[in-house]
Amino acid sequence: MTGAGDILFRPLTLPCGAVLKNRLVKSAMSDSLGDGRGDPGPGQTALYARWATGGVAAAIVGEVQGDPSTAEKPGNLVLSARSNTAALRALTAAGTAQDTHLWAQLGHAGAMAHPPISRPRGPSALDLPGLTCAEMTVAEIEALPATLAATAIRARDAGFTGVQIHAAHGFLLSQFLSPLFNRRTDAWGGSLDNRMRLLRAVIAAVRAAVGPAFPVALKLNATDQLDGGFAEAEALDVIAALDGAGLDLIDISGGTYFPGAASASDRVSSGPYFLDFARRARARTTVPLMLNGGVKTRADAIAALETGAVDVVGLARALILAPDLPETWRRDGRDAAFPRFTAPPEGGITAWYTMEMTALAEGRPGVSPDDLPAAVTAYAARDRAREALWRIRFGG
Ligand SMILES: Cc1cc2nc3c(=O)[nH]c(=O)nc-3n(C[C@H](O)[C@H](O)[C@H](O)COP(=O)(O)O)c2cc1C
Repeated sequence: MTGAGDILFRPLTLPCGAVLKNRLVKSAMSDSLGDGRGDPGPGQTALYARWATGGVAAAIVGEVQGDPSTAEKPGNLVLSARSNTAALRALTAAGTAQDTHLWAQLGHAGAMAHPPISRPRGPSALDLPGLTCAEMTVAEIEALPATLAATAIRARDAGFTGVQIHAAHGFLLSQFLSPLFNRRTDAWGGSLDNRMRLLRAVIAAVRAAVGPAFPVALKLNATDQLDGGFAEAEALDVIAALDGAGLDLIDISGGTYFPGAASASDRVSSGPYFLDFARRARARTTVPLMLNGGVKTRADAIAALETGAVDVVGLARALILAPDLPETWRRDGRDAAFPRFTAPPEGGITAWYTMEMTALAEGRPGVSPDDLPAAVTAYAARDRAREALWRIRFGG
């Protein structure tokens, strides 16, 4: 199929020189397919093979940890000297088939680290219903850039072709940016300059570690969507301040995964959520921009790219529903069919999509979208089973 859709399939050369073969990227998702010991689990390789052959330019593995005490879930990958190199190599070989990029999202879940296996920590202590964390010490903060840089090197050595620094959705680096969660009075809190000090240090350390020719992307919130949180004016200032910091792509998202808060993957409205923001961001940076959230149809993707504001479109849920969507869009333009959920329980939609990834990985049908409680139960039961494996592997 040719015509307006051609814009989806033009290659993009990133500032580091790497080439994305088209403009469609599988957004970072915590696929919960690790084996509970921080290594790739059965099926994970098959899922990334599926996305690679389905035609995405890049797929980003969500929440890859360097330190097991910062994990978001017991299904996260942990890159360490003890990693199962053969399994990681199989994953990256499958995920990079057909010139597809496979990037690791460098995670630190901060206050949202999974309490049974991790140590929730944030810029400031929190004691909220369902969310408590300790305040990070200065030594812990100062150690983080080197930890994430070492994780980036391990990712590169394992065959990942790029990394993404996660500073969105209420995880650690976005907590540092947010005046609501960062109440520090030292050099790491207060002014925006201070709140972004850690992010700058992480970007500098990761870039120095991987060298100039390896893709380093950033996922950033346009807004936390919380009163008193990180808001659009500051997000634009961060984007402007990071021009020249060595980034290859800024992936624009928004919202938080705090209990009760609005998260991008639970939203049901259609049409890109952050396109207006991206237009304003375009005026403040020369770094390529990726638009994330709410892109559901081929027409949405084309319209976003045609604004000239964004260079790449990110797709998360659509690529669970239709892992070969780029190839389909190239062939006949058919869109993914999104389920309608009635009265979803909190976290139910994310649980359902997560279990759909498992079903895809295992090549079997998933849970009915009419039965979100079943998805939530299966998701929670699997996490509980993996917590035991995680403790054996990593202690705690
Ligand atoms: C099951 C699931 C897991 C996700 N995990 C992550 C993650 O680990 N890191 C991240 O940055 N975003 C994560 N997201 C958010 C997506 O990357 C994306 O920002 C969001 O789903 C909106 O995009 P969409 O409208 O295309 O789904 C996740 C989304 C889903 C559905």
